[in-house]
Amino acid sequence: MTASSPRTSNARSSAPGERAFVVMVVAAGSGERLGHGMPKARVDLGGRTILERALESVEAWGRAARVVVTLPAGDAELAEVCRRHGAEAVEGGGTRAASVAAGLERIAGLPERSGLRGILVHDAARCLAPPAVFDAVAAALEAGERAVIPVLPVTDTVKAVDAEGYVASTPQRAGLRIVQTPQGFDLATLEAAHREAALLPAEVALGITDDAMLAETLGIPVATVPGSEESLKITVPLDLLLARTLLEGRSG
Ligand code: CTP
Ligand code: MG
Repeated sequence: MTASSPRTSNARSSAPGERAFVVMVVAAGSGERLGHGMPKARVDLGGRTILERALESVEAWGRAARVVVTLPAGDAELAEVCRRHGAEAVEGGGTRAASVAAGLERIAGLPERSGLRGILVHDAARCLAPPAVFDAVAAALEAGERAVIPVLPVTDTVKAVDAEGYVASTPQRAGLRIVQTPQGFDLATLEAAHREAALLPAEVALGITDDAMLAETLGIPVATVPGSEESLKITVPLDLLLARTLLEGRSG
């Protein structure tokens, strides 16, 4: 399903460029796989922290009415970064989903929430996501979609394997997509999805790696829009090298 054919009719018009979205940047992870011995959001990327780069991407887009950031507990340095960027810091949880839930609790009390067109949940680790992707997600929400994810085609062949490591099946690549952030939701939809998730058994909940999966479990159609190679997630050291090269290309 694409964003050009919304299945729902909750489309609301907003003036072009209006600051009508809340953006939640999740940055509370510990960055184990990057291996810098500090939370990933604090790692340097070309003279600024990954969190600063992420907040600059949100600012470059320019349509956030409010930005909420989940942070590792007691991280004064990242809290200061949020303050400088006019973003609200919230203490994250032990998993990404728990961090999103903590951010949602803060957003639940916002006085302006009825005027919002939706929420975009974004990984700080995808700090170089270009404005065009934020625009595409926002446009799909404005067209009436309740859940929207940016995706890319899969270029490798993907296998499903069994517990012994033998190939069980090979899904057709043409029907597969790699999923990125920002993921966009109607705010009430994302809140309902997280309320449902709180009822799931822990072993099921641990297998839910993004917010779109929660929407899927509720049977809510999840639309796709084009993602970007530039929205790469900084996970391992090689990703940081790629991100640095990408940044150098932008400034030069
Ligand atoms: N995240 C979060 N709260 C958590 C775990 C992750 O807010 N408890 C955020 C991360 O900060 C990151 C995004 O979710 O921006 C994607 O997670 P990931 O890339 O796995 O980051 P880390 O959990 O920090 O990395 P690792 O798994 O290697 O420790
Ligand atoms: Mg992680």
